[in-house]
This record gives sequence, structure tokens and C-alpha cells, in this order.
Amino acid sequence: MDKFIIDGGNRLYGEVKMQSAKNTVLPLVAASVLTDEQVTIRSIPCINDVENMLRILSEVGCKIQRKTDCAVIDSSNAVSHEIPARLTKELRSSVFMLGSVLTRFHQAKISYPGGCDIGLRPIDLHLNGLKRLGVEIIEKDGYIHCVAEKLIGAEILLDFPSVGATENIILAAVKAQGITVIRNAAKEPEIVDLQNFLNAMGAKIKGAGGSTIVIEGVKRLHGVDYTPIGDRIEAGTYLIATASCGGEIQTEGVPPENIAALLHKLRENGCKIHTKNDKIILQSNGNLKSVDLVETMPFPGFPTDMQAQYATLCCTCKGTTLIVENLFETRYRYAAELKRMGADITVRDRAALIRGVEKLHGAQVTASDLRGGAALVVAALKAEGQSCVLDLSHVDRGYADFEGKLKKLGAKIRRVRI
Ligand code: UD1
Repeated sequence: MDKFIIDGGNRLYGEVKMQSAKNTVLPLVAASVLTDEQVTIRSIPCINDVENMLRILSEVGCKIQRKTDCAVIDSSNAVSHEIPARLTKELRSSVFMLGSVLTRFHQAKISYPGGCDIGLRPIDLHLNGLKRLGVEIIEKDGYIHCVAEKLIGAEILLDFPSVGATENIILAAVKAQGITVIRNAAKEPEIVDLQNFLNAMGAKIKGAGGSTIVIEGVKRLHGVDYTPIGDRIEAGTYLIATASCGGEIQTEGVPPENIAALLHKLRENGCKIHTKNDKIILQSNGNLKSVDLVETMPFPGFPTDMQAQYATLCCTCKGTTLIVENLFETRYRYAAELKRMGADITVRDRAALIRGVEKLHGAQVTASDLRGGAALVVAALKAEGQSCVLDLSHVDRGYADFEGKLKKLGAKIRRVRI
């Protein structure tokens, strides 16, 4: 497994362009099986999660042409409704295949999905939503088998605005008979992008971005050539790294409203931030003050996927920050690693109390999940001396050319292949 060697203490300066959002590309790839015609997804990032999702499509019989920055998917010969277990274990988003494969083949069989180990991550909301559309669900030997001769539109009220459940229900409802209404839907920008992508294929969906989404089932969908939105979590990670280390950065490809909650906190920390269209310019002197409280929430609240990176910034802010993680149960694994670098963090259940220290020092640390791994990289960039971040398989799931982009900003980072 690869590792990063990072010499910390440098300010970061420059511009960085965002990849297409991982969390939008994954459902779009799954949605590609909804048509027999060719689907082109542009500006697609070279990250393990996306490559695994494309592999799942190949396994069900789709033809994939992977070019430098786009994927062309031809599902006309898709044959299988079964998603191989070895791939679903790698990738939680394999669960999206339920909605789209079900729509295509009237049945879908999938083993319980894997992904980051950050909590229980049940899929009951997905399955209950599918049941409302007339799907029969048989759970046996670690597999979920969904069958529906006919998908029929329905009113669905989600107990919680789950991103994945909202997307899965959209994928199952898009060609269902009649109208589906999802209430208490997730409002994340990635849901809006899925709506735009499907509407560009001929779907009739409205309301994404709000809490009620209305889907009028259509008979067929056609091919599309689509460029997804930029990755707000990737942009947030570079902004936090620069805020923490000091310097000036311009991110391109993510409109500020997509990460407004983070920008609001960074301003309170003492960063200067200007925005124009999809560009965000952040200046920081590297000596920030803490904010009292940060709680993760569904969009437009503070994103759970930024919690670990932001906690790293708090480690060297003047003052104390209380972080409350409301989405996932075990999302503080990185805290023990940050302590090795001199951070002062106390974790109890869903809360982390971070008392700012003057500096972090280099250490050998191990990534245990995607965003926690990115947080350790941010910490190592700030720390005095050399750090080694082990087990990059996690960060490689979500950040394309992480070290290349950081190097361009002036970071001293190199990947060592083991
Ligand atoms: C998506 C994102 C992930 C992000 C998360 C929250 C993708 C590919 N992943 O994950 O990066 O961290 O949104 O913004 O888009 N829940 C249930 N039952 C369900 C489904 C979810 O109880 O059937 C709970 C989860 O345990 C969690 C909460 O709902 O506490 C939010 O999860 P959800 O929004 O579904 O996250 P994902 O779609 O898995």
C-alpha cells in the first residue's frame, strides 16, 4: 500500500481546478444503464470508487470506453441483474445499482454494500422506498433480491433525508408508471445534478434541491453527453489546507453556495474569502481563531464529509472548538492519529472537543477512511517536520492526483509505492 511522505510547514499558493464530484459521478454511472443509447460522462475523476463503479457496469455487460477525462458507456448489451459481491464490498455506491438495474431488468440482486467504515450505514430507507414503488424484497444469505414486474409511482416520505435513498428512489421511479413524490428528500447539490442528468436523457423530474421531488415516469430515456458538477468536498479540502497552513488559493469549478456552510466557518476563523461564479479565493495568515461549535447536518448544513479535515484545522486554532457529528457514528478514527502529531482532542460518542495547540509535529500516521485520510494529509502539511501518512488506498478512493495538485500549490509531498 502506498504512503505519502510530507515535509510540513509550507504555505500554499496557487490555483486548483476541481474534478467532477465523486458523489455525483457514482449515481450517474449507475443511471447509465437506464438507456440503450450511449452515455458520455465528462471530466470524470481517476479515483478508485469511480473505476470500481465502471467495473460493476462492465460485469453486468455494459461496454465502457475509458478516456483520459471521460467515460463512454454503452449499455445496449447489458444482460445481468446480479451485481458481483466482490465489487459491492469495495464500494457502498454499488447500492445505486438496485434502482437502475431494477428499472432495466425488473429485478436486481446485490450483496450488502461496503465502503468507508464510519458507522452502521443501514439501507432500510432505500428498501422501504423501493417497496412503496411495488418492489418485493427478499433478504437472504447477505444478499438483497428485489423483484418488480411493474414499478408503480407512489408517495414516499423519508424518515431522514438520506442522499443515497433519495437517489435510489429517483432511479427506480424515473420509468415507473405514474407519478412518484419523495417528501423529506435530501437537498444536496449532487441530487440536483442527478435530476439534470436524467432530464437531459428525457426524464421528467422536478423539485431537486428542495425537500419535495416529483418524478413523472417516462417510457424511455435516451443517450446524453454530460459534464457533472465540480467536487465541493475536494474544493473544501484544499481550502481548509490553505486556511490551516496559510497562503492564498483559488479553487475553480465549485459555486460557493455549494459549500456555504464551510466558507461561513472559515470566515469566522479569520480567513478572507472572495467568490466569483464558480471561483473561491481564500487568503489566510495561518494564525486562526477557533469557532465555538460545528455540527454536521444534511445540506445546506455543515457537511459530514468535511468534518475530519475541518477538525484538523481546529487543532492549531487559538481557542477551543466543539464538533458534533450527527450523521455517522464512528467518524473520529483519525483523532487518535492526530494526537500522535500533538493535537489535543477528546472524543466522546458523537462529540469531539478540540483545544488549539501552538503547533503540530510530524509523525507516522495511518489513514482509516477516505476523509479521515485527507485530514491526516492536511495535518501533515501544517505540522513541523516530516510525516508519513500510511495506507493511501482510502484517499485514492476520492482524490484524483492529490499529491500533484498539492505540489502545484507548493506542498512538499511525495508518494512512495510499497
Ligand atoms: C452520501 C455520500 C457520503 C456522505 C453522506 C452524507 C455518496 C456516494 N456518498 O452517503 O459521502 O457522507 O451522503 O452526506 O453520495 N441512513 C439510514 N438508512 C438508510 C440510509 C441512510 O438510517 O437507508 C442514515 C445513515 O446511517 C446516516 C444518514 O442516514 O446516519 C445519512 O446517510 P445518507 O445520506 O444515506 O448517506 P449516503 O447516501 O450513504
